[in-house]
Amino acid sequence: MASAFFPLLLFLSILSLLFPFISSSNSPTTIPLSLFNTNPNQDFYQKLTHLASVSLARAHHIKNSQDSSVSKIPLYPHSYGGYSITLGFGTPPQKMSFIMDTGSSFVWFPCTKKYQCSKCPVSSQNIPTFVPKLSTSAKVVGCLNPKCSWIHPKTNPKSRCQDCQSPNTSNCKQVCPPYIILYGAGSTGGLGIVETLNLPNKKIPNFLVGCSLFSSQQPAGIAGFGRGISSLPNQLGAKKLSYCLVSHRFDDTSKSSMLVLDSSNEKSANLSYTPLLKNPVVARRNALLEYYYVGLRKITVGGQKVKIPYHYLTPNSKGDGGTIVDSGTTFTFLNHGIFEPVMSAFVNQVKGFSRTEKIEKLTGLRPCFNVSGHKTVSLPELKFHFKGGAEMALPLANYFSIVGEKDVICLTMVTDRDSGSELSTGPSIILGNFQMQNLFVEFDLKNEKFGFRQQVCK
Ligand SMILES: *[C@@H]1O[C@H](CO)[C@@H](O)[C@H](O)[C@H]1NC(C)=O
Ligand SMILES: *[C@@H]1O[C@H](CO)[C@@H](O)[C@H](O)[C@H]1NC(C)=O
Ligand SMILES: *[C@@H]1O[C@H](CO)[C@@H](O)[C@H](O)[C@H]1NC(C)=O
Repeated sequence: MASAFFPLLLFLSILSLLFPFISSSNSPTTIPLSLFNTNPNQDFYQKLTHLASVSLARAHHIKNSQDSSVSKIPLYPHSYGGYSITLGFGTPPQKMSFIMDTGSSFVWFPCTKKYQCSKCPVSSQNIPTFVPKLSTSAKVVGCLNPKCSWIHPKTNPKSRCQDCQSPNTSNCKQVCPPYIILYGAGSTGGLGIVETLNLPNKKIPNFLVGCSLFSSQQPAGIAGFGRGISSLPNQLGAKKLSYCLVSHRFDDTSKSSMLVLDSSNEKSANLSYTPLLKNPVVARRNALLEYYYVGLRKITVGGQKVKIPYHYLTPNSKGDGGTIVDSGTTFTFLNHGIFEPVMSAFVNQVKGFSRTEKIEKLTGLRPCFNVSGHKTVSLPELKFHFKGGAEMALPLANYFSIVGEKDVICLTMVTDRDSGSELSTGPSIILGNFQMQNLFVEFDLKNEKFGFRQQVCK
């Protein structure tokens, strides 16, 4: 399946040559963002089915993430319907592609020529790896380095660094213990290194990045953009992160848009804002700290309010509930108790088309309507209403997708099969990237707010 890799855009290298090195620049850093899809050969049914199932698998993981073990960093399976960026690490820079993931906070790449990947969509030999030996700036993170505690936040240096017990710790040669990251269906592991990250307009020395020596089910490294200390925006000191996701055209390999990391205070035009929230319950559940929570207050379908039990919309005393924005999820996940009334609202309001159970079974999506023979189809508007009054009216293509021979359309959101499942923990709503197509979104990290506007992304 080597051919399954989409060609990734390499603008970054060209930009690096054009832009001189600016050390303390306040100007925004701009990185091309492309769709990442390792399965371009699948037909429509397979793709939708696949995306529905990976969206559910990711929801399982996000909702059940626990950090019981000290060497475990929350990290997530990236759906193949994700978005990727290319970053240059090392001196001279080696270019690597990463899945852009706002649902996790660690940055890692496949590393060394010995890298092993099991159950990968591409064989190990065909996965590009970072080679530390070829870089003059790569350094293994020492055990007493404060960045080692970013990897192992729960252990104190005394128990972590057994060889460094003597009062004179300047002799300590022990390296930071390896990380092992587990997720729903797979894992990765390796050593933390500090390396120079070469961005188009600046170099970031001593960037903490994982040199993974083995993984399973990972077609590329992951760049964590979450709220944790080791995430890419945090290591850069970015005040704002923004992007506009190009549309999911499954046959379109060449489009990309820009991801912008900004350290200025410039205001963006025409954005509707809602506060970024923190889950108040973090004891023993550090994973919940990483997520970008927003206050979704109401969902309307065709202008009518959908009845959603309030307890889903705010994290409860255990930290369960609430809404997160997650670039690594494809189709938005709604807890059963939210999905059912939303689906009923569509079923009740869409008149003149019959539901097709055959396609619903085939794709795992519902409802699906047979629109055969109709030149135009009008569907009720789907709107998310946020705390503070911001309203997100979704473009139709963000919540209904044409399936097969253009005669069936399906709602592109997913849920767990039954209400009693384990998915009742964690966030109730995971806003996925499919619903964010052709929206400009901004995470204002300094002022803790989330902004968006409709825009054709290009
Ligand atoms: C610690 O060890 C280093 C290297 O052996 C030595 O240079 C330094 O003087 C020692 N410091 C103390 C406080 O003993
Ligand atoms: C902001 O809105 C105004 C008025 O609708 C429009 O002319 C302008 O192009 C918009 N700017 C951006 C950046 O979307
Ligand atoms: C949709 O309806 C048309 C006409 O009634 C029918 O021929 C076709 O088989 C239906 N398609 C599906 C997928 O059910």
